[in-house]
Amino acid sequence: MERSGESGMERIGGTAMKKLFEKSNINGLSLANRFIFSATWDGNADDNGFCTQRNIDMLVERARGGVGLIITGMAYVQADGRAAPWQLAVHGDEFVPGLTEMTKTVHDTQGTCKEFCVNGFSVFIEQAFCLRK
Ligand SMILES: Cc1cc2nc3c(=O)[nH]c(=O)nc-3n(C[C@H](O)[C@H](O)[C@H](O)COP(=O)(O)O)c2cc1C
Repeated sequence: MERSGESGMERIGGTAMKKLFEKSNINGLSLANRFIFSATWDGNADDNGFCTQRNIDMLVERARGGVGLIITGMAYVQADGRAAPWQLAVHGDEFVPGLTEMTKTVHDTQGTCKEFCVNGFSVFIEQAFCLRK
């Protein structure tokens, strides 16, 4: 695949990619660029849905890669609403400290990643409700 341009990534395969590196915003939330890490269940939470260091490490790696927005994997909002094993949970206040730590650590990564990100990173937690028969 041919790459050219100032950063070597503005044109990929002859297509202008510059716009992807521009700042954008979603309903007033300003984003450093237009790269988004799509919601991905990763099975890194513990047996009870608490955020683990593995959750954090994986998302920090995504932030280091330069995405402007991270959407976590689906997090279940009701105790019996889990759709997949080791899925993040967000059905009680007890889950908030772990998720806060995750978000804070990703935001702190900003200082170590200057290449693409001028405005820092944002994290969305995807809330999912699984209907059961
Ligand atoms: C392993 C895996 C886990 C995923 N987990 C979620 C999820 O938790 N929530 C969600 O909305 N989409 C989830 N997706 C869908 C992805 O976010 C994405 O929409 C899908 O892979 C299509 O992306 P693409 O068009 O770039 O191929 C998952 C996909 C994969 C492969």
